[in-house]
Amino acid sequence: MTVVPNPLHVLITGASSGIGAALAAHYARPGVELSLLARNRERLDTVARACRARGAGAQIHVSDVTDAQEMQRVVLACDRRHAIDLVIANAGIGGAASMTATAEELAASARPIFEINLMGVVHTVTPLVPCLVARRSGQIAIMGSFAGLVGLPQAPVYSASKAALRVYAHGLRRLLMMLWTAPTLRHRCATRVVASKRTTMRGAVHG
Ligand SMILES: NC(=O)c1ccc[n+]([C@@H]2O[C@H](COP(=O)([O-])OP(=O)(O)OC[C@H]3O[C@@H](n4cnc5c(N)ncnc54)[C@H](OP(=O)(O)O)[C@@H]3O)[C@@H](O)[C@H]2O)c1
Repeated sequence: MTVVPNPLHVLITGASSGIGAALAAHYARPGVELSLLARNRERLDTVARACRARGAGAQIHVSDVTDAQEMQRVVLACDRRHAIDLVIANAGIGGAASMTATAEELAASARPIFEINLMGVVHTVTPLVPCLVARRSGQIAIMGSFAGLVGLPQAPVYSASKAALRVYAHGLRRLLMMLWTAPTLRHRCATRVVASKRTTMRGAVHG
């Protein structure tokens, strides 16, 4: 397994604002293709224009990560257009809000938090696994949180969703290590859980 040091095609979910938009700007440079996915077309357009101004190619995908079939279609179409070197499964809810003391979680919001933060990541990553394994190249980054290590009193459900994500990423990493390990060749696995810069946690799981 080869980690591509300078990825030429980066797929970012939750690219319409916040950390996802900042990551898009970070990777935007000539020769780089960006696939930017979120639900809000206007905000995605703004991010894509800024990336193109930096010389990158940028395509937007107005999709909901909770829709498994739609994600399968979009992710595979992106990969066919240009092999994905790096997928950043970043889309999530409750991020910044969970860091404030005043945020409140209602029981009704528990299901969407899990559907977006956990299942959204599964829907993003799963279609790509066979492609990355076949190419023996690529990297999966999953946006974690300090809240995945220590439950936040103002956001217990959000914290649980990030803890589940951490264990999912750990299992995925071990699965990929098995798939990428041949009798005579060992491949370094490149699945990571990353934490936002606003938290003090370093990567919880490193490939
Ligand atoms: N900010 C923090 O302090 C912090 C700390 C730790 C971890 N995180 C994590 O970092 C990630 C980004 O957080 P952020 O602070 O940048 O939040 P944000 O500004 O609210 O961005 C969230 C992004 O996710 C997208 N999104 C939400 N639901 C979606 C869905 N169903 N389908 C597709 N896209 C969806 C949003 O776009 P649309 O609304 O256009 O769909 C938006 O682009 C999250 O996973 C969060 O848990 C953040």
